[in-house]
Amino acid sequence: MSLPQPRADAAALVTGASSGIGVDLARELAARGHALILVARREGKLREVADELSAAHGVRVEILPADLSEREGRLDLLRRIDELGLDVDVLLNNAGYGLSGRFIDLEEDRQEQMIRLNVEAVHHLARALAPGMAERGSGAILLLASIAAFQPVVGMSDYAATKAFVLSLGETLHEELKSRGVTVTTLCPGPVKTEFWDVAGELEGNLNPKPMWAKADKVAREAIEGLEKGHRVVVPHAPVKLASIAGRHTPRSLLLPIMKRAGK
Ligand SMILES: NC(=O)c1ccc[n+]([C@@H]2O[C@H](COP(=O)([O-])OP(=O)(O)OC[C@H]3O[C@@H](n4cnc5c(N)ncnc54)[C@H](OP(=O)(O)O)[C@@H]3O)[C@@H](O)[C@H]2O)c1
Repeated sequence: MSLPQPRADAAALVTGASSGIGVDLARELAARGHALILVARREGKLREVADELSAAHGVRVEILPADLSEREGRLDLLRRIDELGLDVDVLLNNAGYGLSGRFIDLEEDRQEQMIRLNVEAVHHLARALAPGMAERGSGAILLLASIAAFQPVVGMSDYAATKAFVLSLGETLHEELKSRGVTVTTLCPGPVKTEFWDVAGELEGNLNPKPMWAKADKVAREAIEGLEKGHRVVVPHAPVKLASIAGRHTPRSLLLPIMKRAGK
């Protein structure tokens, strides 16, 4: 099981393709000859990515601007995909953002919008598009979780919880869909220098030391290679892999107070 072969009447849907990891994921797929449907809110940025990729790789690139945190936005996106007459045979569910700060100090509206984007949109698009892949007996889905999915994160409570949902969903779908010809891989990066940190704000304390940081292009390359190999979970970058093991296995009674002290 691996990535479906590119074909004229199918495309890869990449959400959050206007910046950061999403742009590099789109680059990886375009280089493999996949037509693309790029989604995010900023149409101008999507247009720049589309122009770059169609010129460099000669692939069809459609842009469909949408606010994925709104159910109406997602339903409208699915209608517009139908109108294009393309099967979505690869879904890269990447759009998401984080919020740094203590739970009761964050803006409630932003917390709820984040849950709608990081959880509801990921669920909605997978639920809408996976049945078609299963019916055709071929498809690939990448879900963007985070190293924050492996343990609670003091100072990023909601974000870590949304990514724990994504990891749990992704691991189960991997098992449920593999007999139907659909590969599901969950990507769990550590910190990556993207606009993510402008939106989230810096995490308090030294919880992301220098060796943990990876480049977006490397993360995207490892992600697509993992998808091609049918891996269940990809944790790119060796120091992050180690930290993810510690995050999974350190008793919470030790981990949480250490994180809390680091944040002071
Ligand atoms: N950077 C990190 O350190 C890191 C680490 C682990 C996991 N991740 C995960 O990686 C994914 C990509 O993040 P990134 O680092 O590449 O950050 P980024 O550069 O900020 O990219 C986020 C993307 O999501 C899109 N987006 C945000 N809100 C949206 C909305 N309401 N509707 C549609 N699209 C929306 C943004 O586009 P518009 O603003 O144009 O809508 C942008 O294209 C996220 O799921 C993030 O949680 C990031």
